[in-house]
Amino acid sequence: MNAVYNFTAGPAILPKDVLIQAQAELLDYKGTGMSIMEQSHRDKEYEALHHEAAANIRKLLSISDDYAVLFLQGGASHQFAMVPMNLLAPGQTADYAASGAWASKAISEAKTIGKVNVAADCGKDRPTRVPAVNELKLTPGAAYFHFTSNETISGAQWKVLPTSEAPMIADMSSDILSRPLNVSDFGLIYAGAQKNLGPSGVTIVIIRKDLAARAPENLPSILKYATHLENDSLYNTPPCFSIYLVALVTRWVMAKGGVAAIETINEEKASRLYKAIDATEFYRGAAAKEYRSSMNVTFNLPSEELESKFAKEATAAGLKGLKGHRSVGGIRASIYNAFPIEGVDALVAFMKDFEKKNG
Ligand SMILES: Cc1ncc(COP(=O)(O)O)c(C=O)c1O
Repeated sequence: MNAVYNFTAGPAILPKDVLIQAQAELLDYKGTGMSIMEQSHRDKEYEALHHEAAANIRKLLSISDDYAVLFLQGGASHQFAMVPMNLLAPGQTADYAASGAWASKAISEAKTIGKVNVAADCGKDRPTRVPAVNELKLTPGAAYFHFTSNETISGAQWKVLPTSEAPMIADMSSDILSRPLNVSDFGLIYAGAQKNLGPSGVTIVIIRKDLAARAPENLPSILKYATHLENDSLYNTPPCFSIYLVALVTRWVMAKGGVAAIETINEEKASRLYKAIDATEFYRGAAAKEYRSSMNVTFNLPSEELESKFAKEATAAGLKGLKGHRSVGGIRASIYNAFPIEGVDALVAFMKDFEKKNG
């Protein structure tokens, strides 16, 4: 097999060591004679992994006992609806920061449930960005304030995290575990696993326990955070294999030295790539400099034709998944935790060569 660097935005690259271990354990998990996929979610082998995955996330983010770590399904998109269903009572207002495509989806879903105040809107700004903390017009007594910590499509990221009096809720699908975080500043954090935590199929929700009690009585059980909290995310059959991989990925992050150590590597990877973009007029960063994402590096070439050629030739050279999201075009290099720095260097070399031939 030829070496390939996977720049896909998600489902995304997983640590090679994790895949090797999963492969080794696939047919016979720890001498049980069965795959972990084939075992009951009530068996002790699976339960140990289930608890380890949550415990690892707790440890990596220093999460206190005031919070629960839940494993849910339906992706981050399901959280766009579940958050307001549980936490936005009639007569209340929820504040949302509009920063791009994913925040907009969260806002649309919340509007189907209750009253939304858009606290700042820079979703259509070019170069792309997220709001500055001092732009936010928050509602006194709001049910909560929601923001998207990293806009995966536009490549804009909150570098300074906001604060709010109302419980703060963040969609961290594309930057969770990429940098240290003070969980106690938040009411709820959610993230689809398929970028920094594991494969698709499981969504991590970190919720302050008192908030789980706020859901309206008549909400179906499956949609209430309290149900999943009370049942330790085993109310119904969980996505066992995905959670098994979350356990392995979080073990890998710990072996790397934890989130602060990972952040240092992430910053180095991103800075090498942005440096290459800024070195020439041929490439243009899509996000405003102060808001450039460390996870999704977006840029443009002088024409759409050149962008298509770039993505095509990069694929042929083993640099896969660089085509920008279909809604915005351009080039996007997703360099999540598991993405190796050698892959960034390979892309930088390819960029220089491509410019030489086409600039
Ligand atoms: C920031 C962000 N939020 C939400 C989603 C939607 O996630 P899912 O497909 O798991 O519903 C994505 C998917 O890429 C994302 O990047």
